[in-house]
Amino acid sequence: MSIVRDMELWPSGEQKIAWVRRYMPLLNHLEAEFEAEKPFLDKRIAVSVHMEAKTAYLCQVLAKGGAEVRATGSNPLSTQDDVAAALARSGVEVFALHGCTGGEYEEHLRRTLEFGPHAIVDDGGDLVQLLHGNSALSRNLSGGCEETTTGVLRLKARERAGELFFPMISVNDANCKHLFDNRYGTGQSVWDGIMRSTNLIVAGKTVVVAGYGWCGKGVSQKAKGLGARVIVTEVDPVKAIEAVMDGFTVMSMDEAAALGDVFVTVTGCKDVIVGRHFDIMKNGVLLANAGHFDVEIAKPDLLARAKEILPMRPNIEGYVMEDGRVLNLMAEGRLVNLASGDGHPAEIMDMSFALQALSVKYILENAGNLDNRVYPVPKAIDQYVASKKLAAMGFSIDRWSDEQREYVSGWQV
Ligand code: NAI
Repeated sequence: MSIVRDMELWPSGEQKIAWVRRYMPLLNHLEAEFEAEKPFLDKRIAVSVHMEAKTAYLCQVLAKGGAEVRATGSNPLSTQDDVAAALARSGVEVFALHGCTGGEYEEHLRRTLEFGPHAIVDDGGDLVQLLHGNSALSRNLSGGCEETTTGVLRLKARERAGELFFPMISVNDANCKHLFDNRYGTGQSVWDGIMRSTNLIVAGKTVVVAGYGWCGKGVSQKAKGLGARVIVTEVDPVKAIEAVMDGFTVMSMDEAAALGDVFVTVTGCKDVIVGRHFDIMKNGVLLANAGHFDVEIAKPDLLARAKEILPMRPNIEGYVMEDGRVLNLMAEGRLVNLASGDGHPAEIMDMSFALQALSVKYILENAGNLDNRVYPVPKAIDQYVASKKLAAMGFSIDRWSDEQREYVSGWQV
């Protein structure tokens, strides 16, 4: 039986799912195709992705393909209880509670896997972690797919150590994922989350973005578009040059800490903003994290310095320093775009989740023929998703003629 906060919450959850369905043409298409072809008949699929409307729709699409689907969230603060109720009501077993404890979160992951899935969809690597300690849970597993950068890094570390016991597809590395989801999706939804939960202006502020990877590029570009002065901090000199040439100021966090009004960490690393930075920050700064884990802003250092913690607004806590300055931590340092907002726009997740659905299909079709490795999304799937999306957006592009193809074939790979 599902574990959700309150089944009676389903009507608003169902409304949210109905809304995103209108903007996810690729998933609409796959839903119809899967319903006709039933590629997942007699298969069990476990999903651990932020429990909000787009994820719910992905689960329903997999179920239309004949799968028995169980789902949980991938972060206690991103679960939307009304969506969880609506998804459970539609026949998917759901184990997710907004704001659950760490212990409950683990329990939900375990319950999601208890039916012995044939495939998994993971976001951040928590399902994979649990499966590796428990052969009963992984007894039927053919493999799975990973959604995000941090999860892929964890998978690759396992692969290097010879400790990956089933094949996984790195959906994050597909072009139709990180070029759009990480960059435009995170870029927009981070500012959506910050603006809607603070009701403050971005224009004219100094924004410090830590990390100029795919997500950091998006967050920086959108901040610039909103009228902020943007400072980028990096550890990679190449990325730092890229940031400079994109028109941003680059400096170390030690220098930027005293200048910023808003800080956004999006590195996948830990302790990016620590005690010595908090010591020199301005009164009233906003601290937000968009990286996968809540370790980028060192909360223990904040706690150690706080003489008081004030609830400022929903999802914002004011840490009052000894000298009276207040540093505002958003969403407990968890993914700000999901904990303080609804995550990426539906049109973006349409591509990411189409890749997920097709990659799960690929894993199951190739069950037993893949090594225990991290595989890229097959190029044909990436290209298919791009072509379908472009067509759905109403754009057409040129095609090579036979002569052109022959002309470029000598040097084109
Ligand atoms: P990426 O690997 O493209 O970029 C990370 C960047 O951070 C790199 O350029 C790296 O050099 C830099 N970096 C690492 N440590 C640093 C430090 N201490 N200080 C400054 N810069 C540092 O990764 P991507 O795709 O941008 O993802 C970043 C994080 O965001 C990951 O944890 C990922 O899982 C997460 N993510 C979050 C999303 C969301 O919805 N909030 C969506 C997609 C990814």
